Amino acid sequence: MEKTLSIIKPDAMERNLEDKIKNVFIRNNFEIVRERKVKLEKKDAEQFYKVHETKPFYNDLCNYLSSGPVLVMVLQKENAIAENRKIMGATNPEEADPGTIRKEFGISIDKNSVHGSDSKENADKEISFFFKD
Ligand code: CMP
Repeated sequence: MEKTLSIIKPDAMERNLEDKIKNVFIRNNFEIVRERKVKLEKKDAEQFYKVHETKPFYNDLCNYLSSGPVLVMVLQKENAIAENRKIMGATNPEEADPGTIRKEFGISIDKNSVHGSDSKENADKEISFFFKD
């Protein structure tokens, strides 16, 4: 079994999509093994997205992720990292396949409703960032 980190981002939380999105994971046979609702400080978002620090969108991205509560979850399933990326869809909701979370709920490339780890290495880092024990 593999684990991945999922975040329901502020745009989805403020539209009360938390249960709808969690149900997509459950329907797709993910087990939600840990979850925490948190409101990040900007410095936490900067650390979390450090991999993007040289990108032109980094500052806006960190302001956005720290703009409201988020729901952070550890999802477990065979091939959880790839499977989660499949059901999230492309980063830009306009390019995401029909039926994916970002196509259904995303507003823009910034407000794309969910984050999911993109590799085993980042999944391990991201999970320990939010869940210390
Ligand atoms: P996420 O999967 O959380 O990882 C980094 C985020 O940066 C990404 O989702 C997008 O919401 C955001 N982002 C903003 N602009 C871009 C861009 N041009 N390319 C990729 N990601 C972007």
